[in-house]
Amino acid sequence: MKQVPFKFGEVVTGEHFTNREDEINKLRSNFISLQNTIIISPRRYGKSSLVKEAAERFVQKEKGYFFCFFDLMYIYSEEEFYNQFATKILKATSNKVEEFLQLAKNVLKGTRVTINTGTGEPALELGVNYIKDNIDTILNLPQIIAGKKKKKVIICIDEFQNISRFKQHEKLQGRLRSIWQHHKNVGYLLYGSKQTMMIEIFHKTNGPFYKFGETIYLNRIHKDRLREYVQQAFHSTGKEISGEICNRIIDTIENHPYYLQQFARNTWLISEEKVTEADFIEAKRSLISENLNFYNELLDNLTNYQVNFLRALLNKEEQLYSSEVIYSYKLGSSANIRRMYIAFVNKGIIIKEGGKIIFADPVFKLIAEQRFLPQ
Ligand SMILES: Nc1ncnc2c1ncn2[C@@H]1O[C@H](COP(=O)(O)OP(=O)(O)OP(=O)(O)O)[C@@H](O)[C@H]1O
Ligand SMILES: [Mg+2]
Repeated sequence: MKQVPFKFGEVVTGEHFTNREDEINKLRSNFISLQNTIIISPRRYGKSSLVKEAAERFVQKEKGYFFCFFDLMYIYSEEEFYNQFATKILKATSNKVEEFLQLAKNVLKGTRVTINTGTGEPALELGVNYIKDNIDTILNLPQIIAGKKKKKVIICIDEFQNISRFKQHEKLQGRLRSIWQHHKNVGYLLYGSKQTMMIEIFHKTNGPFYKFGETIYLNRIHKDRLREYVQQAFHSTGKEISGEICNRIIDTIENHPYYLQQFARNTWLISEEKVTEADFIEAKRSLISENLNFYNELLDNLTNYQVNFLRALLNKEEQLYSSEVIYSYKLGSSANIRRMYIAFVNKGIIIKEGGKIIFADPVFKLIAEQRFLPQ
């Protein structure tokens, strides 16, 4: 049996990656000019994939750059942050373990390096006191190494908003900014999914990271490109799908990249050589049931007001605060609507895009429709 030509839930590059030409070009020119960049989007729009793809294409053409990828997803303290930051940079800029050890000896004098017995991978072990005495050196590592090796370094930090969960994170942010802004041979690319937190870090006028770099807001992917992608993937595995069914798949998940891959995968698995209407319906059903568990608890705990609020959104009411809508959907008061709006935004259920409130997750919308709108 042929391998499924769709992938979701992990970073995708190469054949599983489509579109984003404009963003890739922009990143390319920012890498060259070492322009700091921030990428913001709701969850699963493809930030991590975009950065990986852009970096992969870049290093194929340009020599003289080191890329360092650092994910703050599982970093919970400042101490871990410094340890991982330094380790990742040394790894990204050295080829072999010996080189890592040599570099550690030269640039971080008196540090301990441990070698993982399973993987053979080296890691720095910087204690609290060592960090305290060497904070500036650690944060300057990319620039120090760039200078030593006569290369440029691009530091890519994913889930950057997690920095806000460290104690005294504002002080750390101020320190990062004040040191990083002097790096002549280093570019920083910071991205993350908690949109409100990212905006808080980068757009608060009195915050340390205000105007740190250029911000790219990532959108969903254009319909034509998604359709080409799906049709090509079916075709290359000996199957056929009509443009019309493709369009309906894309419309159902409202051009969301992650769900496009999941829905297309389901359709591919169910179908024979040619995708039928029945396949589409069955694939949609499994898309919903695969995602239901994730939302069950949230849906069960909604208040009546919240259900009414969702109904108004599902019915595409635009004047949510008008007395007519408040009255007919029993929404209480405009203050109540505001509260519910903020709560749903913080939960990542709704977002404002192009001045409109939309559902961040199109599959949540399908589930809510089934549950709260008369069929
Ligand atoms: N350019 C793309 N072409 C095709 N599919 C894509 C693309 N970008 C993202 N996807 C799909 O979306 C999924 C999520 O992508 P990715 O993990 O890069 O998003 P993210 O914004 O970093 O997500 P998170 O918010 O969870 O960190 C991928 O696994 C893939 O299925
Ligand atoms: Mg990501």
